[in-house]
Amino acid sequence: MYQLPQLEHTRTLNAIAVLTSGGDSPGMNPAIRGIVRAAINQGIKVFGVNRGYSGLIIGDMVELAASDVTNIIQRGGTLLKSDRCDAFRDPVVRNQAAEILRKNGIDGLVVIGGDGSLSGAHLLTQESGIPVVGLPGTIDNDIYGTDDTIGFDTAVNTALEGIDKIRDTAVSHERLFLVEVMGRNSGHIATQVGIACGAEMIVVPETEFKLEALCFSLANNRHEGKGSSGIIVVAEGPRPGLTYRLAQQLEEQGESPGVCILGHIQRGGTPTGRDRVLASCLATSAIEYLKAGYSDIMVGISESRICTVPLRDVMERTKPVNEQLLDMAMLLHK
Ligand code: F6P
Repeated sequence: MYQLPQLEHTRTLNAIAVLTSGGDSPGMNPAIRGIVRAAINQGIKVFGVNRGYSGLIIGDMVELAASDVTNIIQRGGTLLKSDRCDAFRDPVVRNQAAEILRKNGIDGLVVIGGDGSLSGAHLLTQESGIPVVGLPGTIDNDIYGTDDTIGFDTAVNTALEGIDKIRDTAVSHERLFLVEVMGRNSGHIATQVGIACGAEMIVVPETEFKLEALCFSLANNRHEGKGSSGIIVVAEGPRPGLTYRLAQQLEEQGESPGVCILGHIQRGGTPTGRDRVLASCLATSAIEYLKAGYSDIMVGISESRICTVPLRDVMERTKPVNEQLLDMAMLLHK
């Protein structure tokens, strides 16, 4: 499935640490398992850091054995727990974290998380010189430089399971439903889910739209019998409340839309086979890159090949939604 890197090993590693940070995503557990097993089987000790950077800055870590990651490949969430750690924005706090890593004899760190977590990883390695490799772990799939992130596929499938059920009611009652999916500032989940459920419309934060015009065209479609699926997929966007505002506008056009906010169910559950394989390949490759002397990189996927992306780019650049796919979704639904 994925082409793994074949690298010359130039760095000797005695011990590494691994942490999961930011919003959890299904597939973090297979990634932890991959890091632990790939490292231990090559003679490298692994310390699991609890609660992301919050645990790192107080030295909350334990050495893991290969058996500690038994029976987690199929589990959602993260064995190591996760946290959003605002304190890690402070260089003094990052310096404390580096000291803790040095004191424990740790000569490499793997960070599994989203863009905020990977930005922290970049700053830590820049300031301390400790080798750090990141893995893209977020349901949002909004990380620059990688086609896929760990957890995205599961989140999309979880959303689809819910939407397929909602559609039964939408069809039975010939009623419109607005279904809100996660993704914060990005519409990657909404785009994928919208295509896969045959949505009547997909609303993403990357595309400007006028609320009234959008609702008018929806209501119009329905009058002309064009709106067959009854499902509108709305990306949550940066400010809460968009889906309810849309519903209100639609009510003013004479519709009585149902609203369903899928919320955190998209973050949980058994990772799909695709996410498990992705996580395992990225984790194994992360150990390869560390052993080959790399640092300050994220390991990702580009055109089915494992790739590396400088963490600075991950921090500074964004990944646009695929507008062609959004156009295709509209073409196919009519
Ligand atoms: O980044 C993952 C994500 O699930 C986003 O899609 C969502 O906006 C956010 O996290 C929710 O965060 P929290 O669980 O902290 O409310």
